[in-house]
Formats: sequence, C-alpha cells, structure tokens
Amino acid sequence: MKICPPRKAVFPIAGLGTRFLPATKVMPKEMLPIVDKPVLQYAVEEARDAGITDFIFITSHDKGMLEDHFDVNHELHAILEKRKRFADIKVLEATFLPAGHLIVTRQYEPLGLGHAVWCARRIIGDEPFAVLLPDDVILSKKPCLAQMMEVYAKHGGNVLATMPIPKSQSSRYGIIDVASEDSDILPMRGIVEKPTPEKAPSNLAVVGRYILQPDVFDLLEKQKCGAGGEIQLTDALATLIGMGQPFHACRFEGQRFDCGDKVGFLSANIAFALQRPDLSAPLREAILPLLKEI
Ligand code: G1P
Repeated sequence: MKICPPRKAVFPIAGLGTRFLPATKVMPKEMLPIVDKPVLQYAVEEARDAGITDFIFITSHDKGMLEDHFDVNHELHAILEKRKRFADIKVLEATFLPAGHLIVTRQYEPLGLGHAVWCARRIIGDEPFAVLLPDDVILSKKPCLAQMMEVYAKHGGNVLATMPIPKSQSSRYGIIDVASEDSDILPMRGIVEKPTPEKAPSNLAVVGRYILQPDVFDLLEKQKCGAGGEIQLTDALATLIGMGQPFHACRFEGQRFDCGDKVGFLSANIAFALQRPDLSAPLREAILPLLKEI
C-alpha cells in the first residue's frame, strides 16, 4: 500500500500569550522574534521544508498580524527594489505563502488544544495531516517534521515527536507509554496528558509535532474536558491507541526550546544566534563578560 504524505498542517495559534505581557498586549506572542524571525515563521518553514503545501492557522481575535506576516508587503517591496536592497528582498520572500495556500479559521473560545485542532476538521477532510505547536522551536540539522515524515513513509498511522525529560517535569507534558525504549522509533501503547511523576508511564514527553489520521476528529467532536479542564488532543489520541490505531513516537535529532516560557525563549535566541556566522563571534564576545559579572 502506498502511504501518501500529509500535505496540510495545522498551527494552533489562538493563545493569549499572557506569560509575555506586556510585550503581547498588542502583538501576538507568535510574532516574538528569535534573533530576527518571528517564532511562527520557524514552524511554517519547518513544515514547508517537510513538504507541507497547505498551512492552516487556527487563530483568535487580534491575530491579524500573523496573516499579514505571510502576505506580500507591496509598498515595502517597492521601496527595497528602488534602493536595490536585494538581500533584504530575499529575506522577505521567505515569508510569502503562495495565494490560496494559507487558510485561516478561528477558535472562538479557548477550550484547549484538542478543540483547536478540531476547528480544522472541515479544511483537512479525509486525509492525514500534521500539527505543529509553534511554541516548540526545534534547532536541528534536518527539520523535525521532515524526520517524522520519514517515519511516516515507513510505518504510516500516526507519528509523534518525543524527547526524554526529567520525570519531575512530567506534569507539563503529554507522556507516552512504550514497551521498550531501545530505538529511535518507538511503537506506542498509550499516552497520558500531564500526569504526576508517580503516574507517568515513562520519561518520554511529547513535543509539539504530530502526524495524525483524520479519524481523530470524530473523537474530538465528543471529547470531554481533561487535564486543566481543557479538551485535550492527547485524550483523543489515547482512545485511538486503545482502538488499535498504529502510533509511533519518533526520538528526533535536535534541540527543542519551549518558547512559551521566558527562559526557553531567551535560550532559543542565544542558541539560534550562535548558529549564525554573522552573529556567533560578536555575541560570544558580548555575553561572556556578562556571565562573568554574575
Ligand atoms: C501541549 C500538549 C502536550 C505536549 C506539549 C508540548 O501542551 O498538550 O501533550 O507535551 O504541548 O509542548 P501545552 O504546552 O499546550 O500545555
């Protein structure tokens, strides 16, 4: 049987971003920059590099700036062209999503990640799809979703990204249950959302990258509130695993930063800047004395 790769990706971006107030009073948190690129652009580029062609934003009030970012700014373009700023034009071109390839729909109430994904059901239809949580920014040689696409091409079904965490942090994540941990591709036998360390079935956390079958929508439709009083994607996935759907967890190569958190966001800025030939040396020079002063 030929396994067709997902073409569509869902980006749940309706959150308020209160952890970054006052920066996010007017500006969506997904516009916060890591070095010089908004957080959301990292996820969009990762999806594009993995072969995704249709980008579905699940937004809320006051998130229009996110659509604008992936549109053409004709006025700016004309000025840059007149000034022969071709390098800047190239930088901007990486932000364009072709006409008809960005689809925006709204989550009217903040009812949880499961509900946000469910909002995309009519746009996804009956095909496999990816979900990327833009707060999870991943620095890797090969984009994380591309690594997962390879697992999907081999196994089909559903694929989740995972990474080991200290068990004491299990109540921040979805935690997977696996029979053995001795490979990078792990058949899953369960998943629990934000368990206490005592109840965590492993120390393997779900990172915000999923390849899913559309069957999840029927479950999300009826899904009751779970952890934190929200409709959890994890709970619907747990039911699908129980029904016998194949699920694989992929231990990806790369470093994940939680950019919904201040320390994660600041660390991402430093890590990504240190990868840049134009910034690495001057940044080292600037921060080393600061660290010594402490
Ligand atoms: C969500 C998921 C959780 C996953 C996490 C990864 O939680 O519900 O299973 O481990 O993303 O970042 P959130 O961070 O939205 O609370």
